[in-house]
Formats: sequence, structure tokens, C-alpha cells
Amino acid sequence: MPLRHRTTLTQYLIEERRRFPGSSGDFNALILDVALACKAIARAVAMGELGGMYGDQAADGGKSINVQGETQKKLDVLSNDLFIRMNEWAGHLAGMASEEMDNPYQIPTNFPRGKYMLVFDPLDGSSNIDVNVSVGSIFSILRAPQDVIDSGRDVTEKDFLQPGQKQVAAGYALYGPTTMLVLTVGNGAAGFTLDPNLGEFMLTHPKLQVPVDTQEFAINASNSRFWEAPIKRYVDECLAGKSGARGKDFNMRWIASMVAEAHRILMRGGVFMYPRDNKDPSKAGRLRLLYEANPIGMVMEQAGGRASTGREPMLSVKPDGLHQRIGLVFGSKNEVERIERYHSEPAETENDNPLFAERSLFRV
Ligand code: AHG
Ligand code: MN
Ligand code: MN
Repeated sequence: MPLRHRTTLTQYLIEERRRFPGSSGDFNALILDVALACKAIARAVAMGELGGMYGDQAADGGKSINVQGETQKKLDVLSNDLFIRMNEWAGHLAGMASEEMDNPYQIPTNFPRGKYMLVFDPLDGSSNIDVNVSVGSIFSILRAPQDVIDSGRDVTEKDFLQPGQKQVAAGYALYGPTTMLVLTVGNGAAGFTLDPNLGEFMLTHPKLQVPVDTQEFAINASNSRFWEAPIKRYVDECLAGKSGARGKDFNMRWIASMVAEAHRILMRGGVFMYPRDNKDPSKAGRLRLLYEANPIGMVMEQAGGRASTGREPMLSVKPDGLHQRIGLVFGSKNEVERIERYHSEPAETENDNPLFAERSLFRV
């Protein structure tokens, strides 16, 4: 059988780096370390029950709760450790931040410090971990502030509060029937499939493009009573199908693993919504800005899709907290723009709709 040449992740990165002749190679080495962490997590996830890593992480006989107030699974904690161990030693990073750590992680003093910062959700889709449904890891790479690079000082929360458009690179790994890595280094988005025989990520999906139109949407409809008017309107119109304002039927999906959802949308289009709602006034949404919305947003935009809060482009939001939550809408460009339009059209929002006026039918 003739040998089929495929580009490896390493080769892809070297070819991308040729665009920047003066670059040191640190960045490429960092991406390869991130990829190695993802391969290690893929192995742990693939062992399933046999790996002895299903279930909650018990601490002191009780449950271990992360800064989000969520129960940590054993695999959440293992994945977080793998990200740290694979990335702390090489001298590329000034610090790290993760969903599973309350505060920024300082590079230990026995290792050199570098100019990048790594922000990650080590395992996304907690509710699916123990039931053999696809989960993933999400990562975002930022440049450290100049004074951090110059002084080598410890990083603080404030150093990470950069808008998504400042990301140098972002991506995710999806642990599904095959393990895939989707990456953007700011020059489009590309997909790599893990060849389990070689342990290498192979470029299988160059120049990803999200179709601009779609007939598929994803939202957790059990929250519908908490949605704001523009989202209610959008979903109602999708549900009305051919006979409604949209004049076409829509299909719906909800995996409850954002990475799997994002991947489906990258492959065949669609729109994902976890919007701001009024379920819990202390939370501006379900998903987190720095390690969920921004990296997925950058991948989407680099693939010709769009990511938004509903009100403004996701990548221009100025963060105010490491674990800040935000309403997130992403996917096929024309649908996301339509949802943004619904948010900006005053006549169609609660405030101007007589049904939602003070002391009206739908207000108490
Ligand atoms: P995580 O497991 O990292 O906490 O994130 C899970 C997220 C996301 O993957 C998914 O879209 C969402 O939670 C599902 O939320 P619901 O359970 O409310 O549907
Ligand atoms: Mn997550
Ligand atoms: Mn997670």
C-alpha cells in the first residue's frame, strides 16, 4: 500500500512559524506540551471504569468542591494535574489559571519562567464523564504583561483579565470516538486527529469553515422559563419551523458538553446558546469567559463563525474576574447576527413589549 503523507501537528506548527522568522520556538514547544497533556487525558478518559477514575473526588471523607461551587470529579482533578505537570517545567509560561483552581498557579521557583500564560478548562462536560459521552479540554494562550516577563514576578488575577482578542492561540481537544485537537494560532483554525498507533496528532481538517447558515440549534430548554425575551423569540421562531417567521424547519441538539457541541458546529454549522438568564441573578450566565467562551470564540471566529454575548462580540469583552461567567452564543454567522439583532431591537425586547411591562401578565 502506498504511504500516505500526512502533516503532523509538529510539522504544521513549524510551517506556521516560518511566517515569523525571528520567533524563538517557545510558542511551538508550548503548544506541543499542551497537546501532550491532552493525549494523556485522552488515555485516562478512554480507560473508563477500568482506570478507577470515575466518580467524585472525595476530600477528607466529604466532597471536593471547586471555586465554582461544583463537585469535582476525579477526572477533573487528574486532568488539571496533567495540564500543570506537562506545562510548568519548560520555561514558556509565566503562570497558569484553570477552572479547577481558585487562584492563578505560580510556576515553581525551580523552573524558568516565560512570556506566555495558559488558561484552561481541563475537562469540560463534567456531567458526561461517568457515562461515556464525549468530553473535552479547552485552552487559551495569552501573552504575559511586559512587567511580568521583565521581572519574573508571580502572576496575579489581574494579569489574566485580557479581552479575548488578545489571545495568541486557543483550541480544544475532544475525547470522542476519536480524539481530536482543534487549534488556532491566529491564522484560521485547523483540526487534527490523534493517530493512536503513532500517538501523533495528524492534520485532517485544514482551514475549517463554519457554514454561515444552519437549521440546527442547541440550548438547554429546561431553562426556558428563565430566558430573556430575545432568546425566547429566537427559539420560538425555530420551533415554529416552516409555518413560522423563519419559513424553515429546525432540528435541535443538546449534548451538555460544550466542546462536543462546538465541534459539531465547526463541522456542519449550527448555533449554540447558553445565554444570560434570570435563573440566578448572581451569575451572568453558566459558562466561564476566560477558559470557555473566549477560546471557543476565537476558534469560531477564525473559522468564519461568530461568538457573542448576544449584546457584544465575545472577544471584545473586558473581563473582570478569573472565573467570571457570561452569556454565550456562537456558531453560524448569520444566526448569531440574528440573535444579536433581536437583542438590539427594542420593540422586540421585554422592556417594550406590553406583555412584559410593569404589573403585566408575565411580570410579578
Ligand atoms: P464543566 O464540566 O467544565 O463545568 O462545563 C460544563 C458545561 C458545558 O460543557 C455544557 O455546555 C454545560 O455545562 C451544560 O450545562 P447544563 O447541565 O446546564 O445543560
Ligand atoms: Mn467547562
Ligand atoms: Mn471543566
